[in-house]
Amino acid sequence: MTTTAIRGGLVITAAEETRADVLVEDGKVAALAAPGSAFAQRWQADRTLDATGKYVIPGGVDAHTHLDFPFGGTASSDDFETGTRAAAWGGTTTLVDFAVQSRGQALREGLDRWHAKADGKCAIDYAFHMILSDVNEASLKEMDLLVGEGVTSFKLFMAYPGVFYSDDGQILRAMQRAAGNGGLIMMHAENGIAIDVLVEQALAAGRTDPRHHGEVRKALLEAEATHRAIALAQVAGSPLYVVHVSAEEAVAELARARHKDLPVFGETCPQYLFLSTDNLAEPDFEGAKYVCSTPLRPREHQAALWRGLRTDDLQVVSTDHCPFCFSGQKELGRGDFSKIPNGLPGVENRMDLLHQAVVDGHISRRRWIEIACAAPARMFGLAPHKGTIVPGGDADLVIYDPHAEQTLSAATHHMNVDYSAYEGKRVTGRVETVLSRGEVVIDRRKFTGRAGHGRYVPRTTCQYLT
Ligand code: URP
Ligand code: ZN
Ligand code: ZN
Repeated sequence: MTTTAIRGGLVITAAEETRADVLVEDGKVAALAAPGSAFAQRWQADRTLDATGKYVIPGGVDAHTHLDFPFGGTASSDDFETGTRAAAWGGTTTLVDFAVQSRGQALREGLDRWHAKADGKCAIDYAFHMILSDVNEASLKEMDLLVGEGVTSFKLFMAYPGVFYSDDGQILRAMQRAAGNGGLIMMHAENGIAIDVLVEQALAAGRTDPRHHGEVRKALLEAEATHRAIALAQVAGSPLYVVHVSAEEAVAELARARHKDLPVFGETCPQYLFLSTDNLAEPDFEGAKYVCSTPLRPREHQAALWRGLRTDDLQVVSTDHCPFCFSGQKELGRGDFSKIPNGLPGVENRMDLLHQAVVDGHISRRRWIEIACAAPARMFGLAPHKGTIVPGGDADLVIYDPHAEQTLSAATHHMNVDYSAYEGKRVTGRVETVLSRGEVVIDRRKFTGRAGHGRYVPRTTCQYLT
């Protein structure tokens, strides 16, 4: 296999920033050495990549995507081929997607279906969480088997009654099981039963526009569900990871739990950090482009999310990439916001938007790498192979140009969706070259990867608990 030397860059991990050359052999990082050192000069590499003036960072780990996901009467518009290719363009080299247990089905059936969707299609490495939508004796037992084969995290929903919803008893049982088998419960924390009442009342009163999606899914109902999930996890003795946190009040619940030393973790997403209810209120049904759950919040919530990321009350930024085209998909909800498929595109934008957060002074460079690479890798049992740059680790590497200017747009992105949630946004910083296990998959802004290069990665249990 080709040996590659990446020379002259600033290597940034969650732990440190050093000027170093990086040697890649057999798909792994073989060595790091001071540029110009006798050791680095002795390297006989087949290929040299010049990273002078650039950063060398670990490939991003996006721990929350929905590719080829049937939802809201349609299916997300990126499949495993287009979605993983777009991820590579954006400097993400591993994603963890959600396999779905349908009601009345075994976990195994859902997992097999997701393996079949992904097999031979992926440009980057991938793993699976499992969505539990039918918690019963059989599926509880199956959780143990899945943990044993590398599917170590399970998403439950307090929202979407009649679809994915679990009641408190089912949630408690799944948490008790996870407490015994080492699994991590991921929670969609919104009080879906109360929200459905408010949806019904809003529609009956003629409040049908996309902005009402945000108004009925109240911050208090996210905070209440977060509080309840934490209490249930405490009773069960299990860890808890709350997904797509958007409300200031929900961050406060996580902070309170963490200050009591409970094993409670939180994730937010770029859309909550950069977008707001102003987008949901865009006229001519354009607000539908921003319908997701939890919903976008008034922009005053953003300060609490940034603070949570700095104080480690929130540990991870994932995309919740769940794209639906405006034309033909989001449009399903014209005249009834509750029929707009929930989800936003973003798998290609996460690393850049978070670099912009560095430029804007919200987070440090190392925290950028921590929340986007190292922490999701540790949280979901992928470290040390993923999420850092260390001898013996996978050579999932990005040469990142921190000075390049770009404008985010559907005209130039690679996601299979007809709009960008960040259309026209100027950002500083851009992915230049990407290696996935030593293979160059993006070469100075040209895609050189292939469908089928990406491998399924079985995971160990959460590494914050061991
Ligand atoms: O709106 C969203 N978040 N769609 C994807 C499904 C989920 O709840 O994560
Ligand atoms: Zn969710
Ligand atoms: Zn999601």
